[in-house]
Amino acid sequence: MSDSDPDSNTDRVALAFSGGLDTTVCVPLLEEEYGYDEVVGVTVDVGQPAEEFAEAEATAEALDLEHHVVDATEEFADLCFEAVRANASYQGYPLGTALARPVIAAAILEVAETHRCTGLAHGCTGKGNDQLRFEAVWRDSDMEVIAPVRELGLTRGFEQEYAAERDLPVSGGDEGNCSIDTNLWSRSIEGSELEEPGHVPGEGIYEWTAAPGEETLEIEVGFENGYPVSLDGTAMEPVELTEELNELAGAYGVGRSDIMEDRMLGLKVRENYEHPAATVLLNAHEALEDLVLTREERAFKKRVDHEWSEKGYQGLVEAPLMRALEAFIEETQTRVTGAVTVRLEGGQARPVGRSSEHAVYSAEASSFDTEDVTGDIEQADATGVAKYHGFQERLADATDRK
Ligand code: ARG
Repeated sequence: MSDSDPDSNTDRVALAFSGGLDTTVCVPLLEEEYGYDEVVGVTVDVGQPAEEFAEAEATAEALDLEHHVVDATEEFADLCFEAVRANASYQGYPLGTALARPVIAAAILEVAETHRCTGLAHGCTGKGNDQLRFEAVWRDSDMEVIAPVRELGLTRGFEQEYAAERDLPVSGGDEGNCSIDTNLWSRSIEGSELEEPGHVPGEGIYEWTAAPGEETLEIEVGFENGYPVSLDGTAMEPVELTEELNELAGAYGVGRSDIMEDRMLGLKVRENYEHPAATVLLNAHEALEDLVLTREERAFKKRVDHEWSEKGYQGLVEAPLMRALEAFIEETQTRVTGAVTVRLEGGQARPVGRSSEHAVYSAEASSFDTEDVTGDIEQADATGVAKYHGFQERLADATDRK
């Protein structure tokens, strides 16, 4: 990392930098097409595999790019655990890429500010969601926002040619040409032959999950106020717990999804995801809520969770609506303390036991084996309710028959 000492006339732009083709091509383009004197590459750690940092470092060095790496893993993990409290998923996708973007964008903005940049750039295309998520954060600053790939209408073919012409350091590392986005919460796989919705993906696209087999394993996840806090009785911090569960549940093939996803712009895309830890934690959390929340809370929270997920997908995690939804969620989570046993089997993470001191449940009251409900409510008391039930339907039926 070399932070040269530019004079105040030097125009510097901070670039969201991964070392992949898009962002590598952006480096010379920001100088040539946008007139910046210096590009500052910023890579934000949200739990990508180590090779990605090695690739970013190596590419930055070869480009002689000033490069900063910022660790936002814990902050990202905390946001993922807020997502657990909101049972968050969008069309079956637990939002790994989506939730990481505002965290990454904020970290880059901070680097840009401390390193005298006046512009911010990303390598996202004009077709996806990430451009919107990044810019929603950046456009709340005075910086110039630049999206070279979108603005110059670049295609992958053009980028490859341009990189070859200029001898830019782009390594293959493209995993069968699919576009991969990995962080602590999920691994997103799209593009190439997966773009054909009828194409059945081979095992080769999966890296976090083994093909589901016959073996099973029971694990216990502990929750406090809706936050996952332990695994099999051992207290763990969010990053550690998530990493551990990705390994553990991934081995049982848990957390694969293959969906048709409606992007914000309206384009549909075929997406494949791997998210073992997210699946375990989301399933376990909901199972515990089922035990401790009242029927009305469960029903209403589904609507709140849905709205949280929509905003999460949009990357608008700081929206006023989010604060309001989270106030409701916070109130409900005061009782979501307890433990859930989850069985990992055949690619599923199935809750098979739950316990909490806040259970809104009385075995004695509900049991088929006891005569009365409580001391002063007996079975026969339901007769009045049974007489009323369906009253309007019977009236409607009578008028139909007239
Ligand atoms: N469609 C997902 C989203 O917008 C994930 C995109 C992941 N990107 C990738 N290169 N695979 O959140």
